[in-house]
This record gives sequence, structure tokens and C-alpha cells, in this order.
Amino acid sequence: MPGIVLVGAQWGDEGKGKATDLLGAQVDYVVKFNGGNNAGHTVVIGGQTYALHLLPSGILTPNVIPVIGNGVVVDLEVLFKELAALEARGIDTSRLVVSANAHLIPSYNRTLDKVTERFLGKHQIGTTGRGIGPTYADKMTRVGLRVQDLFDRPILRQKVEGALMQKNHLLVKVYNRRAIAVDEVVEELEAYADRLRPMVADTALELNRALDQGATVLFEGGQATMLDVDHGTYPFVTSSNATAGGACTGTGVGPGRIDRVIAVVKAYATRVGAGPFVTELDGTDGERIREIGHEYGVTTGRPRRCGWYDVPVARYAARINGVTDFVLTKLDVLTGWDKVPVCVAYDVAGTIHRELPVSQTDIHHARPVYEYLSGWDQDISSARSFAELPPNAQAYVKAIEELSGARISVIGVGAGRDAVIQRHSLIGP
Ligand code: GDP
Ligand code: IMO
Ligand code: MG
Repeated sequence: MPGIVLVGAQWGDEGKGKATDLLGAQVDYVVKFNGGNNAGHTVVIGGQTYALHLLPSGILTPNVIPVIGNGVVVDLEVLFKELAALEARGIDTSRLVVSANAHLIPSYNRTLDKVTERFLGKHQIGTTGRGIGPTYADKMTRVGLRVQDLFDRPILRQKVEGALMQKNHLLVKVYNRRAIAVDEVVEELEAYADRLRPMVADTALELNRALDQGATVLFEGGQATMLDVDHGTYPFVTSSNATAGGACTGTGVGPGRIDRVIAVVKAYATRVGAGPFVTELDGTDGERIREIGHEYGVTTGRPRRCGWYDVPVARYAARINGVTDFVLTKLDVLTGWDKVPVCVAYDVAGTIHRELPVSQTDIHHARPVYEYLSGWDQDISSARSFAELPPNAQAYVKAIEELSGARISVIGVGAGRDAVIQRHSLIGP
């Protein structure tokens, strides 16, 4: 089973880091294919908590080769800080491989991300302010800087000059900021070149060769389906393809090599930043989920918006990604409710939608249609088999499995590496 894609089904923070870690030693490579340090993955191993942003979660597993694919945007300062922090905790990071074609996040794009958000006022997206949007925009308008440019001085300077010709006009004339000097940017980036050089490779070649030889490669998506720039709730999305298709463009591995698509889905829903969220809870239930589920951003510390499980979103994720298996996380957080609402459809001005409406306006105006499932009181965090779950928790899992369009193969009942119930293997048949 060589090519496995793992993505988020909702708005991010589903527990992708933990799911990747769970596959751990069964895979040879973990490749990050999109996004950058806007991601925040918490992985808990033996009581130790690791927060990863830019690095693939596979970096925590001995012998796995972690890869930053061409679809990722790399902030070099963050990369080296994160590597140093892991090294200081005894994690061997020497296996990391970085694509020569990945784009760099120059400091001016962090500045631009923040000033454009401020400029948007009440229309802002609520970005993480890490320069992600401006860097992907540069990639598309062909003024981006790539990892390989660091090793060709004249080219790096030429590209920075070209980019700043536009950026400085914007910064000075529109946003009233100071102009940025070419030398400043070139020096800042070149300072990392020697340390980066040994990690840089033709990752597409390496991954394809590894697959030829029967290696198992896990493609790890950042963000999630509803934050995908094409398939999410545009414009309230991130600027990359976080869905399964992004695994191919973001790594240079063809679709025929993907055997399995795993989507991680929370037993409820959360969202950080602006944008429509049909099952969002404003009152005490939302606060209760936030407190029990520790729903605060790993990257920005912002409280996450919380709501009930949204079937139209899960079905959409199953379809857009071609999901073969769901990993259902945080079922333990739902312990203690009398009734657990599940949104089975949207009501848009009297019309019932069982699938996600095509019009963004309809999504903004949709009201959730709930089915109320019976809750459970028993602590489920030590359950390790499906049969050990209380009957109502089993019924909840079966009900959302039936509705969501793919089997639920793993159930998370706690943050720790071992706090899972395996129903089907994620790698074997
Ligand atoms: P990611 O961005 O998708 O990797 O997810 P985050 O790490 O941002 O957020 C998921 C959070 O839920 C992390 O703090 C995990 O440790 C935690 N988590 C993952 N699975 C479970 C679970 O089954 N139960 C509980 N209680 N916590 C979980
Ligand atoms: P992980 O990988 C949750 C959200 C931001 C904002 C929007 C655009 O941990 O699931 P950006 O900085 O990417 O331009 O912000 O996307 N966002 C995330 N929300 N989890 C993430 O990553 C996110 N990455 C970006 O909050 O609404
Ligand atoms: Mg996260």
C-alpha cells in the first residue's frame, strides 16, 4: 500500500498531526505537500507535547524520512527555529529533505499579510499573518523566490529586485510603510543558504524512486478541505490546495500512485478565522466544547469557533478527496451531553440541501437541520475497542459513518498516541 494521502475534512485542527503520528513507523516517508507555518499540529507522545508548524509530523518518528514538498511555502527562520527546538529535546532531525522547488516566504510577505488584513477591516479573512497568501500569490504571478534560488546569487538578487519593484510601490504608496531594500532581503535569505544546502534535493525524483521500490509514502496535508483555495468557503480559505489533489501537484507524484485517502474529521466542528460556519454555537454549548476540547489555536492561540458535526461538510470532503477512510477524533469531548445534535442537512430559505449548496451565498444563509442522538456519560478515554464504547457512543459513530460517505476506521478518545480505537487498518486491506 505505497501512496497514502492524509487530509483534514473540515476547517483544520482535526488532529492530522496525531493521525500521521499514529501511522508512524509503518511508513517510510512523510511528505508535507501544501501550506507552511500557518499549520499547527499538536502531537502527544508519552506525556510529552510537541507543537509542529512547518515540519511534517513524521519528523517525530525515528527512521521516517520527513519531506517538505514543492507545494509548501517555507519561512527559513521558522524552519531553523523549529529544527533547533526539536534537536534540543533530543529528536533527530537530520533526515529532513526539502524540495528545491518549494517557495520561500520572504519577510516582506509577512509584512504584507498583516497590513492587507488590517486594511480589509471588517472584511478581513483572519489569516495567521505568516505571509502565506502573499507568497502563494507571488508564485502564481511568477515573482516568487524558490529554495534553489538561494544557491545562485545573481538570480536571487535579480528575483528579489523584480519582486520589490512591485512590493515597494504597494508598501509605500498604499500602506504607508517604509520601502524595503534589496540588500536587506538578499542578506537575510542568504544567511540560511549554507545550512539549508545539504537538505535540498529533487524530492519528486526521490519520492517516485522510493515508490518504485515499494516504499510507503504518506502525503500529509496542512489545513483542510473547507480551507482549500478551490474547494473551500472562498474567500475565507487558505491560499493552497489542501485537498487530496494537492498531494500530486505539491510533490510531483502522479495520481495513479495514490492508493488510499484518509480524511481526519472531528466528532464536532471547529473553525479559526472568518467565514461561514453553519453549525456554529454561540452560547454555553460552544464554550463547553471549547473548554473540554481545548479548542485554542496552536499557531495563533486564538479561541476556535465551535459547533456540531456537519454531515453535508463531511460528505463533501468524502467526495472532493475520494476518501477511503475517516479517522474520527475527539469523540471523548462529546461525553456528558444528554443529546448530541448532528446536522444532517441545510435549510436555505425553506429549501432542504443534503449536499453542500453550490452557492456561497446559500451557505452563508443556511440554517442547520439537526437530528438529536442520545448521549453518554461514561468516560470513554480508556476504551481501546469499539465494543468497550457505551452503546450510545457506538450508535453515534455508526450514525455519522452511515451519513458521511466513507467508513470510520479509527476513533480518537484522547490526545495521547495510544488513545485510539482501531476498527480497520489504515495501511493494509
Ligand atoms: P491538526 O492541525 O489537524 O494536526 O490538529 P491540532 O493539533 O491543531 O488540533 C487537534 C488537537 O486535538 C491537538 O491538541 C491534539 O492533541 C488533540 N487530539 C487529537 N485527537 C484527539 C482525541 O481523539 N481526543 C482528544 N481529547 N484530543 C485529541
Ligand atoms: P492546521 O494544519 C485552522 C485559517 C486561518 C484563516 C485562513 C487563512 O493546523 O489544520 P492563512 O494564514 O492560511 O492565509 O489563513 O485559514 N487557517 C487554519 N485554520 N488550522 C490550520 O492549519 C489553518 N491554517 C490556516 O485561521 O482563517
Ligand atoms: Mg492545527
